Amino acid sequence: MATSSPPPPRVCVTGGNGFIGSWLVKLLLSRGYAVHATVRDPRDPKNAFLAELDGAPANLRLFKADMLDYETVAAAFAGCEGVFHVATPVPDQKMVDPQKEMMEPAVKGTMNVLKACSATKVHKLIVVSSIATNCFNPDWPRDKIKDESCWSDKEFCRQTENWYSLAKTEAEEMALEYGEKNGLHVVTFCPGLVFGPLLKHVAVNTSSKVLVYMIKGGPDTMNNKFFPIVDVRDIADALLLLYNKAGQSERYICSLDQMDLKDLLAILKSMYPSYTYVDKMVDVDFSVGVTSEKLKNLGWKPRKLEETLADSIESYEKAGLLGVSDDEPCRLPFIYRMPPIQE
Ligand SMILES: NC(=O)c1ccc[n+]([C@@H]2O[C@H](COP(=O)([O-])OP(=O)(O)OC[C@H]3O[C@@H](n4cnc5c(N)ncnc54)[C@H](OP(=O)(O)O)[C@@H]3O)[C@@H](O)[C@H]2O)c1
Repeated sequence: MATSSPPPPRVCVTGGNGFIGSWLVKLLLSRGYAVHATVRDPRDPKNAFLAELDGAPANLRLFKADMLDYETVAAAFAGCEGVFHVATPVPDQKMVDPQKEMMEPAVKGTMNVLKACSATKVHKLIVVSSIATNCFNPDWPRDKIKDESCWSDKEFCRQTENWYSLAKTEAEEMALEYGEKNGLHVVTFCPGLVFGPLLKHVAVNTSSKVLVYMIKGGPDTMNNKFFPIVDVRDIADALLLLYNKAGQSERYICSLDQMDLKDLLAILKSMYPSYTYVDKMVDVDFSVGVTSEKLKNLGWKPRKLEETLADSIESYEKAGLLGVSDDEPCRLPFIYRMPPIQE
């Protein structure tokens, strides 16, 4: 008698159309998972690329969901054993209403995700946070590398109007606390600045805009920040690794190379001398030294920075992002501008 094979494990990725979300969906499909991907508008042409991913016809279902609308979130999680919560806005312009634009989708959105996990009997939740929850802590000794025990100081974030870090910190703390209290297996994940090839060539995300701006240049002066950098494909690998191996209530930093952005610029210029490049950079007192040892000890093996840069540039070329255009000049996402908040 023929035996039928068990159904593939079913998981949901919130924000499955985003830069990180789409690479995660692609990886999960390639490993045989059945994937529910949430998007805010399944009919938006910017999401059409998802249906073309290998394995999508058989194993990918798109769900229309807004993280602020609990019912839509719970409907997307039904039948899933695990959830990767990726969806959060990452603004590239100064916010007019930070409460509405950032705090609510990040914090209320994550609470909806947590409650929906409990209601639909999801076993595991991986929350994509950020090193923004880890690196804004004036009490941490300057010469000590930051590990998972370091948290951004929320009051400091509020005073400095660093709404993204405040929102991500509140959401991450809340997720870990909720998991502890309610017996939900929650793991949080804090990546550095993410580069790498784009799977969709419209609606370019904020971190990719930083690299595009560095290559093309434009009217803005750039902060020469010291930053941890990581490849989007290594992020997807790390997320699946955490899903399969990380323990309950654990937190992981994820970054490969850490350098001043002017050193990154020098590497880019040595690899590709003919681009125009950003020509105005100012040193700022901002240093984010973090360690990813915990993730490496779990088996994470990131690729080399040069591969990330080469593949990013090839993808930007294909998308026509590096050509000369008569449109608006290329602009730098506001937190990388000097002065940092100027409009
Ligand atoms: N890229 C980085 O350097 C970096 C570094 C550290 C952490 N992260 C974190 O990684 C995650 C993804 O970032 P990304 O770079 O991939 O950005 P992205 O491409 O802009 O993706 C953001 C995703 O969130 C969705 N989203 C935003 N608000 C939503 C809401 N209210 N309801 C439902 N979906 C919503 C967006 O959907 P729409 O398409 O409908 O707008 C999109 O799918 C975020 O949590 C971010 O904080 C990113």
